[in-house]
Amino acid sequence: MIFTDEMLASMKKVEAARTANIALEPRRMTAEEKDALLKKYHPDYRDDAFVPIRVGGNAGQKAPEELNAMLEGRPRVLDMDIDLNDVYYDVDVLVIGGGGAGASAAIEAHAAGANVMIATKLRIGDANTMMAEGGIQAADKPNDSPAQHYLDVMGGGHYCNRPELVKKLVTDGPGAIQWLNKLGVEFDKTEDGTMITTHGGGTSRKRMHAAADYSGAEIMRTLRDEVLNRGIPVVDFTAAIELILDDQGHAAGAVLLNMETGEVRVCRAKCVILATGGAGRMHYQGFPTSNHYGATADGLVLAYRAGAKLLYQDTLQYHPTGVAFPKQIYGALVTEKVRSMGAKLINAEGECFMHPLETRDVAAASIIRECSDHGKGVDTGAGKAVWLDTPMIDEIHGAGTLEKRLPAMLRMYQKFGIDMRKTPILVYPTLHYQNGGIEITVDGQSGVENLFVAGEAVGGIHGRNRLMGNSLLDIIVFGRNAGQQAAKKARGVTVGKLSLEHARKYQENLEKIGVENQAASPKLLPDYTRKF
Ligand code: FUM
Repeated sequence: MIFTDEMLASMKKVEAARTANIALEPRRMTAEEKDALLKKYHPDYRDDAFVPIRVGGNAGQKAPEELNAMLEGRPRVLDMDIDLNDVYYDVDVLVIGGGGAGASAAIEAHAAGANVMIATKLRIGDANTMMAEGGIQAADKPNDSPAQHYLDVMGGGHYCNRPELVKKLVTDGPGAIQWLNKLGVEFDKTEDGTMITTHGGGTSRKRMHAAADYSGAEIMRTLRDEVLNRGIPVVDFTAAIELILDDQGHAAGAVLLNMETGEVRVCRAKCVILATGGAGRMHYQGFPTSNHYGATADGLVLAYRAGAKLLYQDTLQYHPTGVAFPKQIYGALVTEKVRSMGAKLINAEGECFMHPLETRDVAAASIIRECSDHGKGVDTGAGKAVWLDTPMIDEIHGAGTLEKRLPAMLRMYQKFGIDMRKTPILVYPTLHYQNGGIEITVDGQSGVENLFVAGEAVGGIHGRNRLMGNSLLDIIVFGRNAGQQAAKKARGVTVGKLSLEHARKYQENLEKIGVENQAASPKLLPDYTRKF
């Protein structure tokens, strides 16, 4: 048995209280209670973890110190000998990033007749999309509507969301599901073909469409097939290390670094779509992450240096239920679907301390409070954690339900000798999502002409807190949108003389304020080498 005696003793209390906890209907917190809780316990409110940005369009605003170190980093291209006249790739639309947003953008740009290519730091599909589990929201049921979905998104985001982006997200949602369905995504359906939908935290209707608990992998599989079937060129293991502007200051391509050979290539493009994803591997505030290996906020840094503005760069999502034990999968995602199927969060004393479907920021803050001030966390050897009482699922819905609806999660734990149908699991918040990102208009364009952005690199769609399943939706809606808009725009673009002058000027501004000991920027990959 891999559990410690302390864990086993606490687990007994959880088991003893299970029937009562299943029957319990925990009340939802009031808005005032939520505000007070977030201010005290949510990592976004830890002043010592943020610093003011000192250069560029967001100067004066705060950013996580790890992100700011990249914004104040030395552009990699300045230490390279790059001949911008030596154009290796010449395309209408360059898509940077091979996740769900990048693939959707490339498919639509290709469908619109553009000469499009994808450059991706790892391989196509090595992305947070692949790791998304619980599902994708869309208001396509008779008791639901885009207006209802809109209200949920805005409420979840603390009404800081850009309304025009939310409107597009929710109105294009049902069409996005149909597009994926036609491409071949195997959504969960009843025998008559009706899509099965469930709740997520903060949703007023059941609108989460899923493929068991590997929804993102199923969507990414389908998108990748479509990219490859269309013959869209994909340049793997190739990172964008700087955007190229032309002499009018318009986006005109990127400098691409082959991560295997070290070769540097110039790509000229009439329009560029940044779909570089999130930032979990920045490990803000030392948190573990549910993100894929390449999630290092590169797109934010490149776009910012080129003159785009950031929005809500100071707000991150800590998924309430990251794996806290065993340590081999520390920080991995335990999908919110576990809670939407009835499993409740329980402290070391066997007490259910919150409604299981509060929004993520509130749920994460509640767990942190339980493990700190309340002193009711369970010791995992790497910190404190709370229980997620997974056996409740089969108790509520009948034996076999967990295995059917959460097969990947069950398998993940079984590898470590834990049967989550029989024993609860230990969880603690994990860095999951970058709520903020690059500011865009509703056509997907950033403040830099001909530079489009899609997916997790965008800021503003989700305000200061995203609801479950709206990320898979936004990568499809805004990925497709960016591809369509960029292909259209590219028809009228004549690229001027290529330049990296913006990177040099940015560096000059950093030197003017006395920045020293600069790290190479963007980060590209996390560094897990031991320093001792
Ligand atoms: O909990 C989850 O399955 C995660 C979904 C999401 O971030 O949208």
